[in-house]
Formats: sequence, structure tokens, C-alpha cells
Amino acid sequence: MGLSKNHQLSKIATNDGHGENSPYFDGWKAYDKNPYHPSKNRDGVIQMGLAENQWIRKNPKASICTTEGVNEFKNIAIFQDYHGLPEFRRAVANFMGRVRGNRVRFDPDRIVMGGGATGANELITFCLADPGDVFLVPSPYYPAFFRDIGWRTGVQILPVDCDSSNGFVITKAALEAAYEKAQEDNIKIKGLLIANPSNPLGTVLDTETLRSLVSFVNEKNIHLVSDEIYSATVSGSPTFTSISEIIEGMECNRDLIHIVYSLSKDMGLPGLRVGIVYSYNDAVVSCGRKMSSFGLVSSQTQHLLASMLSDEEFVGNFLSESSKRLAKRRNMFTKGLEEVEISCLKSNAGLFVWMDLRRLLEKQTFEDELVLWRMIIKQVKLNVSPGSSFSCTEPGWFRVCFANMDDDTVDVALERIRTFVRQAKKGKTQVKNKRLQNNLQLSFSSRRYDESVMSPHMMSPHSPIPLSPLVRAKN
Ligand SMILES: Cc1ncc(COP(=O)(O)O)c(C=O)c1O
Repeated sequence: MGLSKNHQLSKIATNDGHGENSPYFDGWKAYDKNPYHPSKNRDGVIQMGLAENQWIRKNPKASICTTEGVNEFKNIAIFQDYHGLPEFRRAVANFMGRVRGNRVRFDPDRIVMGGGATGANELITFCLADPGDVFLVPSPYYPAFFRDIGWRTGVQILPVDCDSSNGFVITKAALEAAYEKAQEDNIKIKGLLIANPSNPLGTVLDTETLRSLVSFVNEKNIHLVSDEIYSATVSGSPTFTSISEIIEGMECNRDLIHIVYSLSKDMGLPGLRVGIVYSYNDAVVSCGRKMSSFGLVSSQTQHLLASMLSDEEFVGNFLSESSKRLAKRRNMFTKGLEEVEISCLKSNAGLFVWMDLRRLLEKQTFEDELVLWRMIIKQVKLNVSPGSSFSCTEPGWFRVCFANMDDDTVDVALERIRTFVRQAKKGKTQVKNKRLQNNLQLSFSSRRYDESVMSPHMMSPHSPIPLSPLVRAKN
């Protein structure tokens, strides 16, 4: 009676904390409506994910759903212990060590399961913070952190602004400034969350910076969560250093250090939803383990992965081949952009590059960034992600994923970008604020992309379109 049905629902059910309604979905809608196909739709939108994993074909016994493996069906299907299968935890701990060059060892008894890194990030937040508490996060950052650490927990993000003057590296000064400002505003900082390697930058944090972060959290007695989901995507130099290696070599309170990991990127298995919290804090391991009842990795998946990850030869080949191919593709992509004098932040990790289109903006504003982004989707027909969706403080940066397509499609994408840039240079393309003309009117019904897709396109405090009640440091 006059009341919207939303009034019957919880605050979480009716708020926008998930971010799905953000206009950043327009790129995905455009792709969904008109996807590129090399022969059937060459004029379609190119989706700018992952190595295909054929291991199971050669190892059918690892699955309880094959003739070869079905004898294990009963044992595995009735397993429901939130500690996880011991062989799974051993294999994951081993794998984590291997990905870090075996320079550090992980204890299987500290492996806690979560539903992907998404679930793991939420689980660790639930263990460390209360509603209203805040995590410092260096910007630009993975947009779904907002949803993962905030939507259901009530925890907020306070971005620590980093900029291109030093390659977006977080400094102790920026951290201190954000922390001090929070103190003045009576905001309770509970921790610092970093992604190393970074999404969206594709860079790794150097040892000195990592040490300074550990000192910082020790001095303030707050937590450090290191999301290391892209550990094995690094190629060449600088090499990846895990926070686990840093704490081996310095005095610190280990109870404050936690790692989030997943097999979504490093093994190309996002659909299996394998996320890990590795905490050096016994109380967090104990609580997290109980909490993992809400996001268990199915025993079928644990069983399969225990075998797959224990296949040392396969894992070794997979990791080295994957990092070689990523390096080759990154090189091909950045060189192709250089032909039209478009540069990217120097990077050697992740599945993307951070492309600098600042000089294509008429005005250095986020409004103009969005206008340019809509032109790229509509005219160039590439679904890339604007920097504002990553809370970047400088307009004009775009994240471009390059790993989920074949070489021919990359060539087509590059040629489209080059043509667009050449035209823009000649003044034929007006990158001006024509918001109405660029408005995309598309419908999007598919839930296919929900998790992996919407995350890069959520709203941010830098966006011209207001959304969330995030707090933001002005430093
Ligand atoms: C930094 C970062 N953390 C977490 C996630 C979520 O990963 P998962 O698919 O394992 O939930 C992503 C996915 O893109 C990511 O980039």
C-alpha cells in the first residue's frame, strides 16, 4: 500500500553497495549487444582473461565425475569439513611457495578457504574490522574492493592517492598524511589493503616500499592485507616479492600480516572459485576457518586441485609458459600503441596495461575522461576501463586487458586504436564533452559477467557520477 516493496528488505538488499548499476557497465552492455567475432562480426565490440587449462583431459582420475575417478565420488561428496581436505591445503601451500620461487614456505595449517579472492577479501575483513571501520587502500585500485571489503561488512575504504609523478608508487608520506587526516576526522583506521602485483597498474611493489609498509602498520598497530592474486603473472624484471618474504627478513608483529590469494589468475581458473586467506595470526586463522563455512570451496574442486597442483611438471610448465606468453603479448600491445605515440605505464605483471590517453582529453577532467571512454566503446568498439573506475586521481588513464584474445584480435584492436588516435590528432575526432550524444542506451540482461566483469567497472569517488558513501583522503 504505497510502500515500495524495497521497504520489506534489508539495508544491504536495497543499497547500491554492490555497484552493478554503475554506468561503467555500459562497456559490457555494448560488448554483450554486439560482440566481436573474427569472421562473423568483424565490426563488433572487442572485449579487452585466460590460459585454457587442458590438464584434466590427461588426468581423468582427478575428477570424481569420470569413469576413472568415480570410485572416489562417495568419499569426496560427503566431505564437509571447513578445514578443507588436508591434501588440498598441502598442495595449495606448496603451490604458493613455488609461485614465490620457493624462497618462502607456507604452512598448510594456515590455509583458509574462501569463494575466490572475492570471498577471501571479505572473510579477512570480517575477521579484522567492524562496521564503520576503515581500510586504507592506495589508488588507483581494483574497483570491486569497494564491494568485497565493504558491502556486507560495513567497512569503508579511504583511498591513499598515488599519482604518475613516481609511477603511482605508494609513499610513506602519502600514507602518513591519509592516516593523520583520518585521525583528525575521528575515522578508525583498521588496516591497509594492497594489491601486489597491482590491478590496474600491472606493476610490482619494490622491496623497500614493502618494508616501509610493514613498518607503517607496525607503528600504527593496524593490519596489512596483501592481495597477491597476480603473483605468477610477472615476467622479467623487477621480480615479484611477496609480503611473506619481507616479514622473514625484518622484525615485525606477524599477527598483523595477512595474504589473500586465489587460483583465478595464476592458474586461469576463475570459475572454480578457489580463494585463500593465509594469515600469520592464529586467532584470525581460527575465526576465518569457521567463517569459511559461508564460502567453502566444494570438496569436488579441492579433490581435483589437490591432484592438479601436485603435478609438479605440469605446474612448472604452465607457469613458465603463461608468464612467457603474457610478456610477449604485453610487448606486442605496448609496441603497437607506441606507433601512434601512445604510452603505457611501464609494467610487467597482470593481464592488462595502464594506458595513458591524457593528451586526447580536451580538458583534464573526469567528465572528459568519461566522454572519451564512451567514444572508445561506441566508435572504436573496444571495451576498456576508465581510470576513474579505479579511483585514479588523474583523468585520462585507461586499463586495457590484453590476455583474453588471440593475436589476430589484438591486431584488430590495435589497428582500431591507432586509427582513432590518428584521427584525433588530425582534429577529425572531437574528444569533447558531448555527453548526450555519447549516451549509450543499451539493455543488459545477462548475468554471465556478474563477478569478473562488473568489478572493473564500478563507480568510484572520482567519478563525476556520485554513488557511494565512501570517505576520501585529501592529500
Ligand atoms: C586484485 C584483485 N583481487 C581480487 C579479485 C577477485 O578474484 P576472484 O576471481 O578470485 O574472486 C580480482 C579479480 O579481478 C582482482 O583483480
